[in-house]
Amino acid sequence: MTTADSTPSHPADARELAGWGVWSAPGRVNLIGEHTDYNGGLVLPLAIDRRTTCTVSPRADRILRVTSTAGDGQAVELAIDDLAPDAMAGWSAYVLGVAWALGEMGANLSGVTGFDFELDSDVPIGAGLSSSAAIECAVAVALNDLWNLGLSPMELARAGRLAENSAVGAPTGIMDQSASMLGEADHAVFLDCTTEVAQSVPLHLEENNLALLIVDTRVEHAHATGGYASRRASCEKGAEAMGVKLLSELSVHDLPTLSERVDDETYRRVRHVLTENQRVADTVEVLRDKGPLAIGELLCASHASMRDDFEISVPEMDLAVDTAMATGAVGARLTGGGFGGSMVALVHQEDVDPISAAIASAFAAAGYAAPQAFTVHAAAGAHRDSVTASK
Ligand code: GLA
Repeated sequence: MTTADSTPSHPADARELAGWGVWSAPGRVNLIGEHTDYNGGLVLPLAIDRRTTCTVSPRADRILRVTSTAGDGQAVELAIDDLAPDAMAGWSAYVLGVAWALGEMGANLSGVTGFDFELDSDVPIGAGLSSSAAIECAVAVALNDLWNLGLSPMELARAGRLAENSAVGAPTGIMDQSASMLGEADHAVFLDCTTEVAQSVPLHLEENNLALLIVDTRVEHAHATGGYASRRASCEKGAEAMGVKLLSELSVHDLPTLSERVDDETYRRVRHVLTENQRVADTVEVLRDKGPLAIGELLCASHASMRDDFEISVPEMDLAVDTAMATGAVGARLTGGGFGGSMVALVHQEDVDPISAAIASAFAAAGYAAPQAFTVHAAAGAHRDSVTASK
């Protein structure tokens, strides 16, 4: 018998929260630690001051309905009972996939009501700044509150990754969602992807007259296709040859043994991961001991390793990095999964404009599409923006 006292808590909580609510989550830029996350390694990303906003209104039925200002204006609808990875396609999979993932992770969705979601974002799409994680995390925090799931930020990051892996079909790691969930103003997120323990590391950029300059090369990347998955496969091959589950169990000292067991290409792929892991640890130490001005060489070494060993750079990216360094940047590197996307450079504040202009000229001279340069600041992670929003 169902009485008022035994009514399941979810619908009541959802009703309590009835009204317009707004949640948001940021994109991220990775300072250093590329393709280390799915190898159980170290990463040092930061959440940026570009966000996806998710305005949610409750429905009386069990339908999830999604619209986006970035889409074609078409709404996508799916019943909660029909949530399954192959029932969703295109951009709406980032939203609906999270609802499905929360159920997969044990949330009881049997009594919950549906919602209308309206998404708006100023995270550039396809620029390697995790516009997808920003959507996933905004939706994850919203549903965690509305469905009263009580999940931790790291659990919500995992739900985002599960959506990305299974609903979107991109075999990515946990870095982007962790940064989007855990970011703090003026801090980077130092995450060990095996233990999933995160620490906030102060950046001290302002005090050192430094800025983070992003240059979107306008070469669009996509992680659901080709290169990303093949790099991941090379890492798995290297781990198997060395008898470990994850490359994070190895260190640079294992490279001589590795060289006897794998082909040259696999060796170089793994060498990138092992040296990059070391560079992340070194960057955190240098940041703490000497401050951000001292991390430039590590950023540049990371780029060289991605370009030469992991082979995920593109000519536009190398030109942006080389031009930034020739124009006075402290350090510069590809950020994100590679095969396009954005460069991140640590630059003196007065060099933001000259470096941006030099890169624009170099691109024009090379016949490349005009790049887009802008600065970012480390910002807060996903949160509820307001209990009710005017609409
Ligand atoms: C993409 C993925 C991340 C990570 C990076 C490379 O951003 O989503 O999980 O693997 O590439 O470091």
